[in-house]
Amino acid sequence: MDPYRVYVTRRIPKPGLDLLAECCEVEVNAEDRPLPRTRLLEKARDVDGVIGLLTDRIDAEFFGAAERLKGYANYAVGLDNVDLAEATRRGVPVSNTPDVLTNATAEMAWALLLAVCRRVTESDRVMRAGRWTGWGPLQFLGTGVTGRTLGIVGAGRIGTAMALMSRGFSMPVLYHSPSANPVLEKELSARRVDFDTLLAESDYISLHAPLTPQTRHLFGTEAFAKMKPTAYLINTSRGPLIHESRLVEALKEGRIAGAGLDVYEREPEMAQGLSELDNVVFTPHTGSATVAARTDMALLAARNLLAMLRGERAKNCVNPEVYESKSPSGS
Ligand code: DGY
Repeated sequence: MDPYRVYVTRRIPKPGLDLLAECCEVEVNAEDRPLPRTRLLEKARDVDGVIGLLTDRIDAEFFGAAERLKGYANYAVGLDNVDLAEATRRGVPVSNTPDVLTNATAEMAWALLLAVCRRVTESDRVMRAGRWTGWGPLQFLGTGVTGRTLGIVGAGRIGTAMALMSRGFSMPVLYHSPSANPVLEKELSARRVDFDTLLAESDYISLHAPLTPQTRHLFGTEAFAKMKPTAYLINTSRGPLIHESRLVEALKEGRIAGAGLDVYEREPEMAQGLSELDNVVFTPHTGSATVAARTDMALLAARNLLAMLRGERAKNCVNPEVYESKSPSGS
């Protein structure tokens, strides 16, 4: 039997590619940048499997082109780039990469939180520019975290990990999530609250919800008005949860104290004026960017795809209902 043909839309860590190469003919986008749409559609046409990224739109047009596709593995835990309903309608299994990036992303949320409230990058810029004039009692006064209230929006794996990491800071924890989180309630005596209570009572709000029609622009003028003017907003989930130009206004006008952002509404761009603000710390969507997490994501995506190519149920299949209509061997 001919080996399976697999396309990978951008270079990923080698262990994942090596695993695929053991039994597949693997082609990888040779350029280390997002694959142009036309190339994606062209490549999809004659492969059995694709590993794609959050920058690839895996929609009805893609599935229409990918006639012989046996599986699609997303190299991300977030799935907002994938039209899952369409994949399911066409019987194509889809997988993602949960768990392996949980701690890395939660750690990045903390890195942003501490950096913005203690003005780390702002100070760093002054030092590099040789503008520090020596110690002064009123220089770079920030806000501490110990004992202050942490609000988590979306208490799934990453939100839970982020909250659990607050233990060293003895923070009261609030969370807003579609379902109760017994781990947070047991370990941290966290309180599940409605959105407005979370906005009103939190000193730090960290976003960990998926991007859906319900969460798009969850944070806009109305939400900022309900937050404390001393509160900070941290986002390591998806950019469109925040209305970015409204965030610029809120930050400029001091309606909230600051923000730590890893994700943006229209990546790689940022809303006008955002980069000029000193009370924001930026990272370039690198929440999962540790060597270990990105390598494990590659291995997981490869293992998932191999299972899908063989007609087996992939460990991280997100639309297992596709197997229900298939033969028992695939169940
Ligand atoms: C994800 O996995 O969804 C992140 O945004 C990238 O690792």
